[in-house]
Amino acid sequence: MKRWLSVVLSMSLVFSAFFWVSDTQKVTVEAAGNLNKVNFTSDIVYQIVVDRFVDGNTSNNPSGSLFSSGCTNLRKYCGGDWQGIINKINDGYLTEMGVTAIWISQPVENVFAVMNDADGSTSYHGYWARDFKKTNPFFGTLSDFQRLVDAAHAKGIKVIIDFAPNHTSPASETNPSYMENGRLYDNGTLIGGYTNDTNSYFHHNGGTTFSNLEDGIYRNLFDLADFNHQNQFIDKYLKDAIKLWLDMGIDGIRMDAVKHMPFGWQKSFMDEVYDYRPVFTFGEWFLSENEVDSNNHFFANESGMSLLDFRFGQKLRQVLRNNSDDWYGFNQMIQDTASAYDEVIDQVTFIDNHDMDRFMADEGDPRKVDIALAVLLTSRGVPNIYYGTEQYMTGNGDPNNRKMMTSFNKNTRAYQVIQKLSSLRRSNPALSYGDTEQRWINSDVYIYERQFGKDVVLVAVNRSLSKSYSITGLFTALPSGTYTDQLGALLDGNTIQVGSNGAVNAFNLGPGEVGVWTYSAAESVPIIGHIGPMMGQVGHKLTIDGEGFGTNVGTVKFGNTVASVVSWSNNQITVTVPNIPAGKYNITVQTSGGQVSAAYDNFEVLTNDQVSVRFVVNNANTNWGENIYLVGNVHELGNWNTSKAIGPLFNQVIYSYPTWYVDVSVPEGKTIEFKFIKKDGSGNVIWESGSNHVYTTPTSTTGTVNVNWQY
Ligand code: NOJ
Ligand code: NOJ
Ligand code: CA
Ligand code: CA
Repeated sequence: MKRWLSVVLSMSLVFSAFFWVSDTQKVTVEAAGNLNKVNFTSDIVYQIVVDRFVDGNTSNNPSGSLFSSGCTNLRKYCGGDWQGIINKINDGYLTEMGVTAIWISQPVENVFAVMNDADGSTSYHGYWARDFKKTNPFFGTLSDFQRLVDAAHAKGIKVIIDFAPNHTSPASETNPSYMENGRLYDNGTLIGGYTNDTNSYFHHNGGTTFSNLEDGIYRNLFDLADFNHQNQFIDKYLKDAIKLWLDMGIDGIRMDAVKHMPFGWQKSFMDEVYDYRPVFTFGEWFLSENEVDSNNHFFANESGMSLLDFRFGQKLRQVLRNNSDDWYGFNQMIQDTASAYDEVIDQVTFIDNHDMDRFMADEGDPRKVDIALAVLLTSRGVPNIYYGTEQYMTGNGDPNNRKMMTSFNKNTRAYQVIQKLSSLRRSNPALSYGDTEQRWINSDVYIYERQFGKDVVLVAVNRSLSKSYSITGLFTALPSGTYTDQLGALLDGNTIQVGSNGAVNAFNLGPGEVGVWTYSAAESVPIIGHIGPMMGQVGHKLTIDGEGFGTNVGTVKFGNTVASVVSWSNNQITVTVPNIPAGKYNITVQTSGGQVSAAYDNFEVLTNDQVSVRFVVNNANTNWGENIYLVGNVHELGNWNTSKAIGPLFNQVIYSYPTWYVDVSVPEGKTIEFKFIKKDGSGNVIWESGSNHVYTTPTSTTGTVNVNWQY
């Protein structure tokens, strides 16, 4: 029944896109394309704290100590709901701004209990789940949610839900009556709570001190009852729950707290999503200012999901809000992330969110918000705008950064900057797919160019609100000619003259000025801009976006193997992953005329459906500097290649040294061989002796294999 509903829904989208829309609607719907659920690079995401946007239905508001009339207590529910978002979709506030996707608070039922703290904190933010298969009644009913998805899709807007499968709600090991004791329900049926947890649904290892990765994964995040994802019921429950929301037609998932869940379980979760109904998924791995974490890069490259780009967000805030770095630092971040992330264009960029001070500081200048938005919307990555930024809302820290939406003024300069750059983002592929090149720089001025084939976007930014700079010696890839500012001088941009060698005539970049100049032309050779999702199984469908593919069907290859083509157009191809061994592949497109594109690297073919297995090895004594890794005879275990071994294994929380463990996503129902190895700091490998360990992995559930190190 649910599947049938969404078939009808997608058919009606096709109709509205091509037939009976009015002229004004047409612009929006066509611009949003085909609601591609795996490529968000030309989208503008708008993040909504549902309770704080619009109260569209006062009859669903909570009462008593859960509610704050007028939102005077920011830790209470304030009445915002899905109907409020529907109203703002239908009155054009979002579409006219150029928003093409919304990220909304976790939609699931949350605790009704009120915290016994000074403010009487509540679950208005959506991160204190009790039943992942029911809706938060204060946001709406299941049919309200379906109406929201339908209303959004009718206007070319994709819907991303927040999803927080790391935990339920605040709980105390010693006090069962604290809040709701972290209790979990399965569509109304009580499953269990945090104390007296005889089925081990939750971890009981105390709160994390954030001291290392393992500590953050297997101990409670704050006081939140932390799921044991290796528990077979929990594993299935969470994977079933996301399918319920996928069935309702959502287009994306923002995964909460991915740094705090086992990597292996999350990869098996992503396999489940891509096997069922693929949608763009990005995780939250918080990084502080200047924090660089190789585990964060590994996660973005190997888990099957993207990440919120905290390196980008924090650095732009340093340059434009906090004045603790300049454009040299920003440009360095752009270069570093381009090499650290395999697909930097799939990471989700932002300038603020519900966990940081709003970008607009109390004593700040709104012009800085405009400049930051212009940089955000012309940079690589999927831009996300936090609700109210376009109204210059202020507020430091949680919950002051989550005030009720103050106004819906369509004439603010920020609103207009978003509007202009959103339409540019959808019309010039250089913004979705292009590399970034620094063209002119000093601490105040950054001139950068995005280029994809013949498409070019040149952006000049002066962050100083008092100084002008004379720009001489600038070169660009723009062909010779006169270029007017695509922002229509909204931020005082100039017209520039480009000579035949790409030299730009000297011009003046005034205080706070931003100029955007563009060129676009059809490609005569194939270039791949994006492939998604970048992980899957034989038989899965993949979407390849780019230009110059030609209108006649050509060839797509995974390595040297030809894939069967499902559909082909000049800028989009759909193919089926061919029957090839698991591993990483480079994908190329060849036109019917024989021209071959550059390769798009690192598509991962999995062996088959994935399950999460905990590998444990006892008595593995190591010398100082040595760690234990796992390697085995399937792609998911590195195919005996020690440089691709899984690890280092953990040895502190679930088990302690000299026992080591790791949760890994491995193919289901398969007899696998494996060994543990020791590696030292310089990569020297010592193999376990004896014969290979053998284990048959379970089918559609988790498993554990526990062996002794073989001396
Ligand atoms: C990160 C979320 O963004 C934050 O708001 C929340 O409190 C924690 N994760 C726990 O869910
Ligand atoms: C090489 C190792 O030396 C050995 O111990 C292991 O069993 C094999 N790789 C896997 O076939
Ligand atoms: Ca309401
Ligand atoms: Ca956890």
